Amino acid sequence: MPSVLDSIKVKGMFFKNRLVMPPMQGDHATVEGGVTSKLIEFYEKRAEGLGLIIVEHSYVNLHGQLSKRQLGLYDDHLVPGLKELVKRIQPFNTRIVLQLNHAGGKAPSRLGIESVSASPMESARELSVDEVRMLSYTFGRAAERAMEAGFDGVEIHGAHGFLLNQFYSPLTNHRTDEYGGSLENRVRLPLEVVREVKKKVGTRLLLYRMGSVDLDFMGTQIEDSQYFGKALENAGVDILDVSGGVCGGAPSTLDVQEGFFVPQAEAIRAHVDIPVIGVGGVKTPQFADDVIRDGRVDFIAVGRAQRQDADWAIKAAKYLRAQ
Ligand SMILES: Cc1cc2nc3c(=O)[nH]c(=O)nc-3n(C[C@H](O)[C@H](O)[C@H](O)COP(=O)(O)O)c2cc1C
Repeated sequence: MPSVLDSIKVKGMFFKNRLVMPPMQGDHATVEGGVTSKLIEFYEKRAEGLGLIIVEHSYVNLHGQLSKRQLGLYDDHLVPGLKELVKRIQPFNTRIVLQLNHAGGKAPSRLGIESVSASPMESARELSVDEVRMLSYTFGRAAERAMEAGFDGVEIHGAHGFLLNQFYSPLTNHRTDEYGGSLENRVRLPLEVVREVKKKVGTRLLLYRMGSVDLDFMGTQIEDSQYFGKALENAGVDILDVSGGVCGGAPSTLDVQEGFFVPQAEAIRAHVDIPVIGVGGVKTPQFADDVIRDGRVDFIAVGRAQRQDADWAIKAAKYLRAQ
């Protein structure tokens, strides 16, 4: 079995190792969502030791913005800044993809911009069927901008209780039309978005971050996500990134144990024929290597540990090579 330090090819694209930086919103963008030098430096300082960087979630339209200094992808004027970010990472031979998100009902209502969701939640109103149908176009336009900026691909954010997850989860989707009710209906919008984005990324990479479980007996279960994972593969997803659903990315009930969403990634991996990224509380190089060597996942993401220590990946490689 390969080590975490071994290279891998996906769709003909070369990854120098299997270590991933998962998307982590740093709130270092301008108030318009533009790239800043502080944002670039965060990624530049961590790029050398990584096979893949997934750049933090960027909002695909103004209804989907979560926070004031979040990265944006809703307009063409944002492309030059993103181009500069990609250019600065290229010397490291590290693949770089950008995460696309719509925060849905989690977006705060702001002056003149209301928040929207699958069904009414908090201050959000329910989207009409026509508006739902427009969303794949919106994600597609954002993906086009990411391609223009030179990213190796995009990741669609379908986890942590944001809009696409709000459609997937029965906890937040109470619709009675073709976008709600059965599991097939609840995955309809995410699959429409995937098909449209796929057209835009072409030969580059399409990742999907899944909200694999809600940790609620009324919410999504792993069996739903095994079905959904296969459907995402059939719709054109190249890599599945498996995280939490409405429960969020680091639920307090799980956060104590290293690799807390790896069991879900492993269970989904058994049902698909595309590479899978595992994540959750990974702190030690040994654990990151073991999950790859044991064939549990194809890539392993290390978030907060790398946020705290920019040299985490370099140190991990040194430690593992010395073993
Ligand atoms: C500050 C911070 C920002 C995050 N932003 C995002 C994000 O933009 N998109 C996303 O999918 N997950 C986001 N996450 C979740 C992480 O990608 C990751 O899944 C989670 O932190 C668990 O991994 P870790 O224990 O290795 O940090 C964020 C996490 C943190 C701590």
